[in-house]
Amino acid sequence: MIKIAPSILSADFANLERDIRRVAAADYLHVDVMDGSFVPNITIGIPVVAAIRKVTELPLDVHLMIDRPVRYVEQFCQAGADIVTVHVEADTQENTRRALALIRGQGKRAGVVLKPGTPAEAALPFLDSCGIILVMTVEPGFGGQKFMADMMPKLERLRGWIDERNPGCELEVDGGMDPVTCKTVIASGANVLVAGSAVYGAEDIPGRIRELRG
Ligand code: DX5
Ligand code: ZN
Repeated sequence: MIKIAPSILSADFANLERDIRRVAAADYLHVDVMDGSFVPNITIGIPVVAAIRKVTELPLDVHLMIDRPVRYVEQFCQAGADIVTVHVEADTQENTRRALALIRGQGKRAGVVLKPGTPAEAALPFLDSCGIILVMTVEPGFGGQKFMADMMPKLERLRGWIDERNPGCELEVDGGMDPVTCKTVIASGANVLVAGSAVYGAEDIPGRIRELRG
């Protein structure tokens, strides 16, 4: 089953509760946390995750685009995140391993994220400790960017390793999803699709969520 994770980065932050209710037909709610250092943009943090937790039953998929996320992962879990993903580029291998262990220690699903320039192999040391792997199909930092189709070989290699070594692990993609590109990533092995502008820019949001399932 293909899961859709609308990104609230494309929601109206002044009407966040309304816009979260509009995507109730989805599977996860994707929350983009940016620190102005790991990426050139600043979004939201722990108090907003805690506030969102109160207004939705959807699992919260928190994508940390922050330096040295090991410092904050437990707080995001305690604020109500169900899935927490950290970038492999954001710290040393040892600290990334620690971050994943802390997330799992909170009873949550842990995962690593790869930027477009990061090879598939960078996920290998963490494959056994991940419940999800996220492949960026745009440079992290902003919604509404163009899909990078050249990430498909990376996705296919990760799908192969996941099926062999950790079949329960989910494979997520983030960036540039629309009713056409969703078919490309599904064919390459993704099973969780993040979509911001494609969902929130649609006239019929539940219809668009259905369409993105491929
Ligand atoms: C980008 C974020 C994405 C973003 C996707 O750094 O990680 O989650 O919201 O937006 P769209 O779907 O518009 O490309
Ligand atoms: Zn994201």
